[in-house]
Amino acid sequence: MKKSHVENTVGPWARQKLDGLEAYLHAYTMALKKQSFDLIYIDAFAGAGRSKIRTAWTDADEEDIQLIDDEFMRSEEEFIEGSPRRALGLENPFSQYYFFDADAGRAALLNGLQSDFPERKINVHVGDANGLIQRLAPRLSGRNTKGVAFLDPYGPHLDWQTVAALAATKNFEVIINFPLGMAINRLITRSGDIPDNWRTGLNGCFGSTDWEDLVYAEQTDLFGDTTRHKVDDAAQRLLNYYVGRLKDLFGHASSPSVVRNTRGVPIYYMLWAGPHPLGYKIADYILSKGDRITPPKKPSLR
Ligand SMILES: C[S@@+](CC[C@H](N)C(=O)[O-])C[C@H]1O[C@@H](n2cnc3c(N)ncnc32)[C@H](O)[C@@H]1O
Repeated sequence: MKKSHVENTVGPWARQKLDGLEAYLHAYTMALKKQSFDLIYIDAFAGAGRSKIRTAWTDADEEDIQLIDDEFMRSEEEFIEGSPRRALGLENPFSQYYFFDADAGRAALLNGLQSDFPERKINVHVGDANGLIQRLAPRLSGRNTKGVAFLDPYGPHLDWQTVAALAATKNFEVIINFPLGMAINRLITRSGDIPDNWRTGLNGCFGSTDWEDLVYAEQTDLFGDTTRHKVDDAAQRLLNYYVGRLKDLFGHASSPSVVRNTRGVPIYYMLWAGPHPLGYKIADYILSKGDRITPPKKPSLR
């Protein structure tokens, strides 16, 4: 079965990420609903608007599939509303929505959301989220502006400079889906032999070259030859480092909330950072629920 490139297929664990995001956005917009701020939502790696959940059946091999008729397969398909729809469907909406995706097909689907949500002000741009945010952020530092940016890359594609540009507004909070287990830690090879383009990506993501000293230790053998190896707790060190830098930048950063795949392996961490202690308290509480999170009750609008 050929998978459509435009359609996003996700593991069942994506529900935890999206329910956590929606619960936080609901709390944020409820808390500010009586104030007259221009509320901005940025979804920088926005995806297609909805995703197909991988189930046991859709993961089945060709032989299994031939035994199942098409109608049964369709009845087993399950879709999940992606981050843009979660934000658009909030009871107390944002004043403006910015959706960015590098994939033109997905951006076309994002543009289509306007007809489902005619009251919302939606801006869709195709391109690299880093450049787009770095150009937009300086326009978002007005005293009457506040907002949340959801940053959900597949790999080390979120540049530290982009996060810094949002922090510099002093008005923005970020929710970062940090793909440590499923991508970043895999680029850090056991031997320390890292292809140049991977190293460049990691330097951009961490905003410095310090990550390399954290994850490798040197060992000298009896003959005086020095080799380096990856330390066992490399992932934990990188996570602590990244969260510490978020805290330095924004003032507050929540405890990382781990998201595991169906085999219990940590694949990414939901992180929140922002300038306000109250935002911190709410985010830390919501994200600490992990996979026990439930999304807020849907308004009838959707
Ligand atoms: C994890 S998916 C997004 C899922 C979506 N946030 C959700 O939860 O429904 C990541 C998306 O980022 C897009 N992407 C990858 N690199 C990008 C970049 N440099 N700038 C903007 N979008 C990018 C991909 O096309 C993909 O749609």
